[in-house]
Amino acid sequence: VHDMLIDSFGRLHTYLRISLTERCNLQCQYCMPAEGVELTPKDHLLSTEEIIRLSSLFVGSGVDKIRLTGGEPTIRKDIEEICLQLSNLKGLKTLAITTNGIVLAKKLPKLKESGLTSINISLDTLVPAKFEFMTRRKGLEKVMESIDAAIQLGYNPVKVNCVVMRGLNDDEICDFVELTREKPINVRFIEFMPFDGNVWNVKKLVPYAEMLDKVMQRFGGVKRLKDHHTETAKNFMIDGHCGTVSFITSMTEHFCSGCNRLRLLADGNFKVCLFGPSEVSLRDPLRSGVDDDGLKEIIGAAVKRKKAAHAGMFDLAKTANRPMIHIGG
Ligand code: GTP
Ligand code: 5AD
Ligand code: SF4
Repeated sequence: VHDMLIDSFGRLHTYLRISLTERCNLQCQYCMPAEGVELTPKDHLLSTEEIIRLSSLFVGSGVDKIRLTGGEPTIRKDIEEICLQLSNLKGLKTLAITTNGIVLAKKLPKLKESGLTSINISLDTLVPAKFEFMTRRKGLEKVMESIDAAIQLGYNPVKVNCVVMRGLNDDEICDFVELTREKPINVRFIEFMPFDGNVWNVKKLVPYAEMLDKVMQRFGGVKRLKDHHTETAKNFMIDGHCGTVSFITSMTEHFCSGCNRLRLLADGNFKVCLFGPSEVSLRDPLRSGVDDDGLKEIIGAAVKRKKAAHAGMFDLAKTANRPMIHIGG
């Protein structure tokens, strides 16, 4: 119990998000600037061995859920091997991924065999031309194939993450909800958040209350479900729909008081809050030979410095952070 990751507000951290790469096969506008981002030199990125060593420390300290993010995690060449080794860590219950679904379908059978338990797929529009505009690439059909492949392989629910931006895709909210009628998916509408390089603006943010209102006006029998206190999402069911609908309200109703999340970035930096600019390198002490206890001390001290909540959207928009593609959500 003494080395559980508890912060100074009593929050227990059991969920680690690991960014496997800074690269991506899409270039979503809300995630990275058009000119791209500077990539960390390869030898400064965590090796697979280093990821597993650090993960086993976290799992030993009570982490029971790991989510692989990026960049786009599926383009890391040895992702199957990473999944296999992570899923063998004693104490890990959930091994999840957040992916854009472009190359997921063909990799999925192997990933499932390697122990991947849960899948979240990002999809912000159902209109091909808009997909191309928002992601600066083609691929809507591939993403739809991946959603269906995940359903076919028994993932339930497959979560579909939709970042809603005013004037871009806010007219598609009900079309996304319509998908939940027949598919066992959980569509999650996400408030647009500010990160470096994504030209965030409050006018582009569609507040939770407004999104929910749109859904309630169109669909009858919308009921709030109980959510777990550590969850990012507020969940709803709709009479007659096989899937569910949720809202991730980071901006208008943050959920920091139940936060159980930590982040390990591809360059080995450890981040205790999505919006906390302070980071500490775990790669450097690891490479200079610090032992497990020493590493746990560094991790524990960083967790103790975690703030009660993020600073609020207007301050966040002014604070330097990294671009989303480096953090992984
Ligand atoms: P589940 O584990 O399936 O509930 O997924 P998740 O919501 O934890 O992770 P996912 O990668 O699917 O992220 C969905 C949205 O929630 C993205 O916009 C993330 O940036 C956002 N998100 C995830 N974790 C946090 C967090 O700790 N704080 C805030 N403010 N947003 C988060
Ligand atoms: N605001 C909200 N969500 C975002 N995501 C990426 N950038 C943003 C942003 N600026 C989402 C992605 C993915 C998840 C990891 O974070 O769509 O589903
Ligand atoms: Fe946790 Fe920070 Fe996200 Fe709040 S903003 S939920 S404290 S990671």
